Amino acid sequence: MWAEIYDTESNPLIALEEARYPRELVEHYVKNEIVVDIGCGTGRNIKRMISFNAKQVIGLDISPGMLEKAKARFQDEPRVDLRLDNLQGEFKDVKEESVNAVTACLMLEHIKLNALELLFKEMVRVLKPGGCVMVTEMHPWLWELGGQAQFTDKKGTHIIVRSYRKSVADYLTAALEAGLRLMAITEQIMDLEVAKTSMRAEAFANQPMLLWYLLEKPKLDDDDDATTTTTSTTATSTTTTTTTVDTSTADSSVICPAAISATDGVQ
Ligand SMILES: C[S@@+](CC[C@H](N)C(=O)[O-])C[C@H]1O[C@@H](n2cnc3c(N)ncnc32)[C@H](O)[C@@H]1O
Repeated sequence: MWAEIYDTESNPLIALEEARYPRELVEHYVKNEIVVDIGCGTGRNIKRMISFNAKQVIGLDISPGMLEKAKARFQDEPRVDLRLDNLQGEFKDVKEESVNAVTACLMLEHIKLNALELLFKEMVRVLKPGGCVMVTEMHPWLWELGGQAQFTDKKGTHIIVRSYRKSVADYLTAALEAGLRLMAITEQIMDLEVAKTSMRAEAFANQPMLLWYLLEKPKLDDDDDATTTTTSTTATSTTTTTTTVDTSTADSSVICPAAISATDGVQ
């Protein structure tokens, strides 16, 4: 059902994600490498990974309808490999330390909090040391305002897609406990430039609408020098002990001065 309208319905969150995706941070992990895109849907992010010159993109999704759309989209693209997978155990036919990037776009909200850490651990299993996890997500702030993934099907029925309340700290704690290091994080507000491009977007103007973060699996010889770094985030700003971000800009991003891991004081 969702698959039928997913690529055609105007979606302000997708408009923002497309406009503000940090291509320059992600591209080098992907070029000539294998990527796993979890919850790939109809392949919106797979297309992006192919444009970053990935060697192969493995798309995993629980929905046969979404995968059918993705298969039609990439029927002439041998680099794309689509697999039905509910992400509850090992990723389907993905070997240990075989990929350099795992991407999760607008899908972790559909995962229960108590399943999140296991999912991040599975990402760590398949990642090569030095590989990355790139997550884009509906900002938890929107959930608190009553927002959830939803759509209107072809018959006009309004459907809310099951998702689960989680905070920014819930996401980061699960990722760090799984052994990943935080490299960059942004709480992206809906800015007026993007709002003009999407129906319904103006209602979200100046609200933090998108959360994205980049994590890395440490290399064995990584020098862990971030032991004194702590971080705190609010809906409109992101701060570390060494960097303060100007919250008047639309893009309140911080590239961590040193990567942060669970043992470095982020609880
Ligand atoms: C909002 S869509 C995002 C699709 C795509 N990543 C994008 O950004 O356009 C969420 C996707 O996550 C998938 N999904 C949700 N829970 C899942 C699970 N447990 N295992 C695999 N896929 C799941 C849904 O089927 C859907 O395709």
